[in-house]
Amino acid sequence: MLSETSRRQVLPLNHHWKYRETFDESFIDPNYDDGPWVMVNIPHTNKELPYSYFDEKSYQFVSTYRKTFTVDSVLHNERIFADFGAVMAYAEVYLNGQFLGSHKGGYTPFSVDLTDQIDLDRENTMVVKVDSRERDDIPPFGHMIDYLCYGGIYRDVSLRIVDPLHIKNVFAKPQKVLYQEKELETSVFVVNTTGEAADVVLEIKLSKDKKPIAAANRRVTLPADTEMAFDVYLRNLGGVELWDIQSPHLYELEVCLKRQDQLTDTYTTRVGFREAVVKPDGFYLNGEKVMLRGLNRHQSFPYVGYAMPKRVQRKDADILKYELGLNVVRTSHYPQSNHFLDRCDEIGLLVFEEIPGWQYIGDNEWQEVAKNNVREMIERDWNHPSIFLWGVRINESLDNHDFYKETNRIARELDPTRQTGGVRYLEKSEFLEDVYTMNDFIHSGGEIRLRDPRQVTGTEEYVPYMVCEFNGHMYPTKRFDQEERVVEHAMRHLRVQDAAARDPHIAAAIGWCAFDYNTHYDFGSGDRICHHGVMDMFRIPKMAAHVYASQMDPRERVVLEPATLWSRGDRSVGGVLPLVIFTNCDAVEVLVQGESIGTYYPRSEEFPGVPHAPVMITEIPSSGEWGSAWPSVEFVGYLDGKKVASKAFTKDAVPTRLTAEADDDQLDADGIDATRIVFKLVDQVGNPLSYTTEAVQIEVEGEGTLIGPSVSALVGGVLGVWVKTTETAGEIRVKARTNSQVARPVVITTK
Ligand code: GAL
Repeated sequence: MLSETSRRQVLPLNHHWKYRETFDESFIDPNYDDGPWVMVNIPHTNKELPYSYFDEKSYQFVSTYRKTFTVDSVLHNERIFADFGAVMAYAEVYLNGQFLGSHKGGYTPFSVDLTDQIDLDRENTMVVKVDSRERDDIPPFGHMIDYLCYGGIYRDVSLRIVDPLHIKNVFAKPQKVLYQEKELETSVFVVNTTGEAADVVLEIKLSKDKKPIAAANRRVTLPADTEMAFDVYLRNLGGVELWDIQSPHLYELEVCLKRQDQLTDTYTTRVGFREAVVKPDGFYLNGEKVMLRGLNRHQSFPYVGYAMPKRVQRKDADILKYELGLNVVRTSHYPQSNHFLDRCDEIGLLVFEEIPGWQYIGDNEWQEVAKNNVREMIERDWNHPSIFLWGVRINESLDNHDFYKETNRIARELDPTRQTGGVRYLEKSEFLEDVYTMNDFIHSGGEIRLRDPRQVTGTEEYVPYMVCEFNGHMYPTKRFDQEERVVEHAMRHLRVQDAAARDPHIAAAIGWCAFDYNTHYDFGSGDRICHHGVMDMFRIPKMAAHVYASQMDPRERVVLEPATLWSRGDRSVGGVLPLVIFTNCDAVEVLVQGESIGTYYPRSEEFPGVPHAPVMITEIPSSGEWGSAWPSVEFVGYLDGKKVASKAFTKDAVPTRLTAEADDDQLDADGIDATRIVFKLVDQVGNPLSYTTEAVQIEVEGEGTLIGPSVSALVGGVLGVWVKTTETAGEIRVKARTNSQVARPVVITTK
């Protein structure tokens, strides 16, 4: 597998694992014959699941992954590690029959040192026993949880080969960010397992798009068999551009470790220079106040749970930023994929990341794992400029002085550059963090939208304060629910966002939640889904999504979304009034049967907090009584007097086309890469038929496989599937049909 010797090699170990849905001691034996086992690639879910109505126990079992590999290079006493991105929920790792390490916790990375067991002359067998049961000794388990923790080795695995004198981690801390001349304090964590003291030079280089900007070095002595951190500074950094939401400038940092002029290791990371702080009067990014408007994200997907590859993880960040126009996401309720976070860095989407947990605090042993989660989360993610806050409490748990004093201490000691938060739903809970992060579910449709922060915190003065959840279970709504409900769902998001933006002491309003998610039977709509998203599990927008999208600057994207299916008899009594139009246009003209009936303007007096209040129409001639003729309609959006958007509805919708659209037309032929395809059964003017009962039959030809079933009912007129590549380059052709329509085949090339 390895052909040449070099100082640091990171080799993906995602391919060709043997997998079995059970465990037996005999599987650890390197000579065990796993021939009949299935071959899988990582990320892998231990069990593919239906879309809804499944028994969550079906993935809660112990399974085994086996991987054989060779390291056929001449090594000079290098150390060899296996790095696991995440394994749910407990893992034991064996190499060539020997137990080498274990890890508790399904959301954070761990490494196992293989050096002493590895055989350089022949094949090595790594066996991972994966316990995906909800074990009482591991957060978030021990009580009920409103989400599923899908099993398996669901994040990347790699082999890392390093010199015995190597860099374990680097924490790059931008300083004097708002000065003309900035600084970068870089803590380099160095390991010396050479058995003797070593004089080394640490060299750091900052560059942008490969163009060098600054460099510095420091000579240090490392005693034998130690792990130590050294700070190296880059000062007087002129011309460095800030990382922000609009222009997220990123720089590359390379750290080299040299001994007697010999390079022994290189470590690279990215850096963004920004100052992000929550104050009692709001959130400030680089000294400017920004209202944080966002949603919570669960990292789950239909069928494969957590096991989606890099491209799909990155796509979620794009959806949040570019389709929903958010500037912040909370990674509820655990650290999420590094691919997702990398993308947040690249596109300027702020992140509030938190440790795993949900309402329940376990015993001491459990709490130790949680404290360790704080360390693992921060040490993994401290170089992401998008992350501005560490969540160091178990979401919505009760106060626990000693435990939370300690989680805060750990976070502040590891990372003095970021504030801590810890999400609670209790008023006047003990405020040990820097930011009081509150789930405020007070709004249930009436006048009251949010609580006064001081009522919540019980403090005389205002403190840094964020609302981290609202809505959710207060008003579960399916995309295909009746019109009055989907409109009210949207209005609740709008009302709370508006209220938060009007209160100068609320820094953020992060709604519950971005995407629907599968859950335990104790929660949700009985179908094992919490229909709490502003998008469904396929990431298809509900009406409430347009509340968020319409807040975007129209120069980025024009949004014109009348909150209606435009039908005579879906609402109680009939008609579509009052009609709300979520838009960032400055005027909307309505044409009924081709005749203009008037131009309408945003209700900014009613919703002064949000950048773009909706348009509301209370009268449309001939769209009223039951029994009168039903017309077609067109809405035309204007900006500065210019027509910029239009949206039509037909009076007599019938299935006219089955559209099929893939997020990507090129994928990597690696047996891992995947992309989403969305099918819509639409009417004459392109609107999905929300209440259709037709099913879609899907056929995948060529170098791809379907994730999920090949026959599935449309959900509110739409169906999403994901297609995964094989390891052979070529073409994937996806064909689909319903009873009435055949889609144009989707063609994806794989390289
Ligand atoms: C909150 C909880 C979330 C979710 C939400 C539903 O209490 O933190 O995980 O369950 O309720 O509204």
